[in-house]
Amino acid sequence: MVSITIDNKAYRVSPNENLLQTCLTLGLDLPYFCWHSELGSVGACRQCAVKQYQNDEDKVGRLVMACMTPVCDGMVISMQDTQSIQFRQTNIEAIMTQHPHDCPVCEEGGNCHLQDMTAISGHINRRYTGKKRTHLNQYLGPMLNHEMNRCIGCYRCVRFYRDYCGGDDFNVFGSKSHLYFGRATSGALENNFSGNLAEVCPTGVFTDKPFSEHYIRKWDLRTAPTICPHCSLGCNITVSERDQKVRRITNRRHDEINGHFLCNIGLFGYEHANHNERLDAPLLRNNADKSSVILSSIEAKKQLAKLLSPADSDDQGSYLSQATGKCIAIGSARTQIENNAALMKLVGQDNFYLGVPDQQVQMLHMLCSAYQSNRVSPFSIKQAQACDAALIINEDISHTAPRLALAIRQMSRNLGVDNAAKLGLADWQDGSVRNIAQTSRSPLAIIASDTSQLSNLATEEVIISPDEQVILLEEIQDQLAHRLEETKKLNEAERLNENPERFTDIPHRPTSSAADIDSDINSNIEPYANTESYSASTQRIVDTLLTADTPMVITGLQSQDPTLLSTSLNIASLLKQLKPNAGFYGVTKQVNDLHFGLLIKDEEGEENYQGIDSFITRVMGQEGEDSTHKAPDTLIVLETDLYRYMEVERLEAALDAIDNIIVIDQMLTPTAQMADLILPSGSFAESQGCYLSSEGRLQHGFATISGLNQRMMPWTWLSELTDLSSPAEIHHWLSQHFPILAPIETFSELAQINLGSQFRIASQPKRASARTAIHAVHDVKEQMPISASGTPFVQSMEGVEGFRQSQVQMITVLPANAWSPKWNSDQGANRFGNESHSPWTLGITLFSQASPSSQPAYSDERQAEQENGLQTNASRKETNSSELTSVSIRLMPSANLYADFELASYSSPIHSMSPEPSLNIHPSLAASLNLIEGEEAQIRGEHSAARLMCTFNQQMSPDVAQVPNSLFTLLGKRAKISPLKGTEDSDGPI
Ligand code: SF4
Ligand code: SF4
Ligand code: FES
Repeated sequence: MVSITIDNKAYRVSPNENLLQTCLTLGLDLPYFCWHSELGSVGACRQCAVKQYQNDEDKVGRLVMACMTPVCDGMVISMQDTQSIQFRQTNIEAIMTQHPHDCPVCEEGGNCHLQDMTAISGHINRRYTGKKRTHLNQYLGPMLNHEMNRCIGCYRCVRFYRDYCGGDDFNVFGSKSHLYFGRATSGALENNFSGNLAEVCPTGVFTDKPFSEHYIRKWDLRTAPTICPHCSLGCNITVSERDQKVRRITNRRHDEINGHFLCNIGLFGYEHANHNERLDAPLLRNNADKSSVILSSIEAKKQLAKLLSPADSDDQGSYLSQATGKCIAIGSARTQIENNAALMKLVGQDNFYLGVPDQQVQMLHMLCSAYQSNRVSPFSIKQAQACDAALIINEDISHTAPRLALAIRQMSRNLGVDNAAKLGLADWQDGSVRNIAQTSRSPLAIIASDTSQLSNLATEEVIISPDEQVILLEEIQDQLAHRLEETKKLNEAERLNENPERFTDIPHRPTSSAADIDSDINSNIEPYANTESYSASTQRIVDTLLTADTPMVITGLQSQDPTLLSTSLNIASLLKQLKPNAGFYGVTKQVNDLHFGLLIKDEEGEENYQGIDSFITRVMGQEGEDSTHKAPDTLIVLETDLYRYMEVERLEAALDAIDNIIVIDQMLTPTAQMADLILPSGSFAESQGCYLSSEGRLQHGFATISGLNQRMMPWTWLSELTDLSSPAEIHHWLSQHFPILAPIETFSELAQINLGSQFRIASQPKRASARTAIHAVHDVKEQMPISASGTPFVQSMEGVEGFRQSQVQMITVLPANAWSPKWNSDQGANRFGNESHSPWTLGITLFSQASPSSQPAYSDERQAEQENGLQTNASRKETNSSELTSVSIRLMPSANLYADFELASYSSPIHSMSPEPSLNIHPSLAASLNLIEGEEAQIRGEHSAARLMCTFNQQMSPDVAQVPNSLFTLLGKRAKISPLKGTEDSDGPI
């Protein structure tokens, strides 16, 4: 800490920040435009001027830009001297000569950084009477409006879009006061983070287009904090509501996860919550004549009880007995933990199936086991951003984990930032740091079947088929194991003072040559011309990882290949033994699927991966089983559309074999359409409960809207049958049965304090203007919001106000909205990082306390793999050659952010950005299969068949064909592909 004086008052502050950040941290209102705590400083707007004095004798001083001035010990400055006040007033007046001053019709009004800064600067008179420049606006896609006349030329947008996010379809054009920030031609912005421009821009140039459709001033919204319901990263969001509809989503800063930015799915993927296909009331359906009867919730609960304990059943009363197995259930990867727990308690663990394919359950379990045994250290996104080398294995994180990809984009700059630091430049000096860094990149190795949005940052990229990837990964694994053995020997020698060498000097172990591998695997396909020797790549990747201080491995479930995941975990584990700071990120597929990996039943040492495939087997019996097999009578499906995972014929045969199907869901999914009884559940905005992110962070989200119509949280539909009547009771049951989840009880304890508190939290700001006006044509009063129960928030402005919440009730609350006097804009509210250490705010990292088990020896892991039926290098080569001599082609899933997330796809802006499904194939493979670009191909997979348009891709591996993620699950890993025209093959699977 250093001492500085600001306006004759002494402060102790951190020396690592610039003066502007320091002033803001101290709660001093210094205006700024171009500075952003994540983007750093460039000194473009000149708004943050302060007077700096050389010492106590210096009475004249000089104006400096606070954002460009490092804090140093003994610094004396003034914010309040006349000259700096005048400078700031004159500067903002000049900036605003071209601004249209159209606040009453601007959607940024009341949420505008320019308004806030104008008020803070004290500029109150408009003297400019000249003509203002005007611009034509552009169509920028379904997410953002464009109103260029409001631009003040701060350059934040272009720095964010191009420098920070790596986008290249947005730029600054023109000069002087005729700057234009937009695209070369109108069109949808391509970057996955484009929606953040609405917050990054300090004025109303970019505004939230879906919000415009049902716009409400910020101060008339009610808000509550929760977790993004889409991918597995667990970004923190604030949901805003009015009139029982979700109006918008904004970023809630969490420095370990999302920081300042959400991806476009997180920002705009909420329309399912307002969708007209939402289920509002329970439905009793007659599938024979396709008719439905709407039930009240009391009738629905009676019907539920009846279906679960039929009066005409011989064994009434024991129907729900878990031993009889008459009632089974499928849990959900997109609902809160509490709902799955209640359902599992109802039917018993033996009868509870996890709502993803068995193989995915196995992979989730592999991740959880590695975290629990401390074999690998799960990193947060912030840690990923700070690491100094990364290896990404077969996971297109730009689409499966976008916020992580944005962090890796920043991570690749760390080498340049370090180089600048050696010259005395702090990381916040953005312009200078980028100037010095130029194109220097931190090591980023990518092993994949296709190029990705991160390819241009990769220092090493190997594009090969998944089967070849396993061979390469096993080589890396062997190298690391060898280095580990040698290191242990050296350490032992060092201990005996015999040998001072370090492991980095150990000679490389020779690996199998590329020629050997090629001859084995490429029996009918031309080798990819750009594929280099694996040995050389292996060596470079191993050296890169071992030279770094904090290397990390990133992989995930996209490949749906347990062998790849197992090998990746081995690599991360060996790396951790060689480099104790090494980390790992395992990207899973849905918001709450990781906790499935903790719900595995271990039967006499053998894990039971009860997913959707096991459910089908349970209903239909094993193949070859005698015909006396009896399917369960009743099935409860919780928030899972089974049609996304299982081919129609098999699934419908299984569903037809079950007498009673009960579905609890938000939407009328194809699965819900097969149900006898449908119970409507609350969306993420209507529910509260816990999620476990893929980092292993247990987080709690609150409801913004409470209990609209007859929608209820699923556990409440079941509560009379489960005897679990509150989240606290569910948490307790969970911690009794799954001790690893015991920290979930922390949230019950905090909730008790909050609910008993006299300081309930207002979910609406004090300055509501127009709640009575919205439906004035019909009625002067608006419907009263439904009062919330079980939440610390009151559904009005009558409670503790945002900025005071943490003062009156220290750690137990989470602000409903972020606001402080004079700071109305979201970006202003987000200028501070996480101050609270409350689990409400930070979550609980489940595995950080994992007790280090005895690390399994490397050879044991390999043996275990073989015992588990996972392939080794040699056996895989064998499989390759025999598989590839057949005509079937290895399929790979191609991920797409706008197409892959079930609930987000109900949002029209997201849906309109999703690409047409296509078969992505290398021209050489296409030629060997007689496929023509732009024409349809027939794909007959292991389980089902599909027809897709062919698109050619020169960059991808010529040994695989890519199909959309959703189809890959249905088709399986291999397929016969032929041109649709003139095909004589059948339409069915292989
Ligand atoms: S468009 Fe907004 S962010 Fe970009 S320069 Fe103009 S005011 Fe700044
Ligand atoms: S979809 Fe994923 S990356 Fe995007 S905001 Fe939500 S949690 Fe974050
Ligand atoms: S914020 Fe300091 S010059 Fe723009």
